[in-house]
Amino acid sequence: MGRFDGKVALLTGVASGIGRATALRLASEGASVYGLDIDEAGLADVRGQVESSGGIMSTRTTDVTDVAECHTSVADCVAEMGRIDVLGNIAGIAWQRHVVDVTEAEWDRMSDINVKGVFFLTQAAIPHILESHGNIILIASNAGLMGQAYCVPYCATKGAIVNMTRALAMEFIKDPIRINAIAPGGTDTALVANFELVEDGDFNLMQNYVGYRRPAPPEQIAALFAFVASDEAGNIHGSILSADSGLTAA
Ligand SMILES: NC(=O)c1ccc[n+]([C@@H]2O[C@H](COP(=O)([O-])OP(=O)(O)OC[C@H]3O[C@@H](n4cnc5c(N)ncnc54)[C@H](O)[C@@H]3O)[C@@H](O)[C@H]2O)c1
Repeated sequence: MGRFDGKVALLTGVASGIGRATALRLASEGASVYGLDIDEAGLADVRGQVESSGGIMSTRTTDVTDVAECHTSVADCVAEMGRIDVLGNIAGIAWQRHVVDVTEAEWDRMSDINVKGVFFLTQAAIPHILESHGNIILIASNAGLMGQAYCVPYCATKGAIVNMTRALAMEFIKDPIRINAIAPGGTDTALVANFELVEDGDFNLMQNYVGYRRPAPPEQIAALFAFVASDEAGNIHGSILSADSGLTAA
């Protein structure tokens, strides 16, 4: 028996990193996974891996910044899989810039992916999750809990996710639904491997968020996600759960 037998998980960002590891983990514990991502090839790849391990997965190529797509994705997930028990808002982007160099287009793209897409996908999914007595997990970051030099837009979006989580938790405190955030620290994914650094950054200003330990494998974040999404975490609601190797302990 798996913790997610008979359950449906709608996850974003499944083509890579934490989203991919979470899709594989939940499918391995019995969930039917409906995965969204903008990366069509990556979606096909993770779906193939889930299916070759005997799991169930459907995918939809989706840009989460498109509000109509958020609603259509939820409707299609329910039409195909019958229900939604878990929503995982995992897709996100990150980069460094000096504040004075950030363009309006860059600001809009980051906030649209990291905040707007999360809000509208959540809005579309909530009626179904209330029906299933399920739960929602938002992926924040240590960057939502601390100030990071050269990361003002990213910190702003992840701070928004932290307080969006708490506000959602309060709005639905009397309802049969749980809403939480996981705040990873450095995790070994494409986001970190391809991270755009400012060329002339002062490394002393970055040390507090580079930390002292190696990046975590994404499977460790997926394992925490699986616990929080499971019935074992029944009293965890409105929490921001750090998994950051001590970054925010300082
Ligand atoms: N890797 C880290 O160190 C770290 C630390 C803290 C928080 N996070 C957060 O974890 C989440 C996952 O990041 P990751 O490290 O796995 O990165 P990743 O780059 O490996 O994966 C992100 C996924 O999001 C998808 N995506 C990007 N824009 C999209 C869009 N508009 N619509 C749909 N999908 C889109 C990408 O195609 C990719 O598959 C992000 O929210 C990120 O901010 C990561």
